[in-house]
Amino acid sequence: MTITLTSHLAGTDRAQALADDVRAGLSATPKSLPPKWFYDERGSQLFDEITRLPEYYPTNAERAVLQERADEIVRLSGADTLVEIGSGTSEKTRLLLDAFAASGRLRRFVPFDVDPVVLRQAGAAVADEYPGTEVLAVAGDFERHLDRLPVTGRRLVAFLGSTIGNLEPAPRARFLATIGAGLRRGDAFLLGTDLVKDADRLVAAYDDDSGVTAAFNKNVLAVVNTELDADFDLDAFEHVARWDEHEEWIEMHLRSTRRQTVTVGALDLRVDFAAGELMRTEVSAKFRESGVRRELAAAGLAPLVWWTDPRGDFGVSLSTP
Ligand code: AVJ
Repeated sequence: MTITLTSHLAGTDRAQALADDVRAGLSATPKSLPPKWFYDERGSQLFDEITRLPEYYPTNAERAVLQERADEIVRLSGADTLVEIGSGTSEKTRLLLDAFAASGRLRRFVPFDVDPVVLRQAGAAVADEYPGTEVLAVAGDFERHLDRLPVTGRRLVAFLGSTIGNLEPAPRARFLATIGAGLRRGDAFLLGTDLVKDADRLVAAYDDDSGVTAAFNKNVLAVVNTELDADFDLDAFEHVARWDEHEEWIEMHLRSTRRQTVTVGALDLRVDFAAGELMRTEVSAKFRESGVRRELAAAGLAPLVWWTDPRGDFGVSLSTP
């Protein structure tokens, strides 16, 4: 069947967004870079590796829920169109696609991701494996292009993997409000949220022994080097992962191991780092059932069901407008 790819990140737009983010983040005190820029081809590969690490429990925990509940999700949603935001390799999505295929109801799969390379590969694979399913791939930034998702069929919009945890409370409320406003009666929203737990397990999941998460974190510097002609020395930064128990989020930082000046050629920017200075590269919020229900309700979404894996590590909710 057909695969169509629409990109809202074409050349200049993507380059401009990266340039704006890097200029703002490196000029601010404290410095920061947004996590969406981890995901060039190598970053997506490293993230994929993270999901297979023994310490990184969220992927397996969410998969356990989907394995158990996929048929129910398909039945309750009544959908014929699966939209996946932040689809990546669409690995776990296959559990949903299989359940849809068994129900004979799936017409359309709409993967939406910030990385066009992974998107094309994953979309083509799905088109191949699920004949009769139309694939409409959309490359975009879920904070800017959600309103451009196709409005066809009865949709189940899935946002899995706790990717929503990358958003701090205010942008998260805006994101959910956009989802809520975009859904029509009969549509449904499937959300994966990693849950608050023991700090040791949380930190281990973001600071694994084999150093894959450290490489993933530093990859954002490689992206800025390549795309904005910067000269970050990846060996002069250290990976840091911390649990903030007040905010209930994990923070990843890069710590400058020495005093140094970095040049970003494309921005005509020189940036000084003090020895030991931290630059924040990601927040990964952790949730509680009550909070998820409250945030969904505030976005006009009524929770239908809440499931967790047996250990209670990860929550999956299905809600409707
Ligand atoms: C893809 C945002 C869900 O926050 O757990 C994994 C990214 N960062 N290890 C997460 C990530 C470090 C991941 N999300």
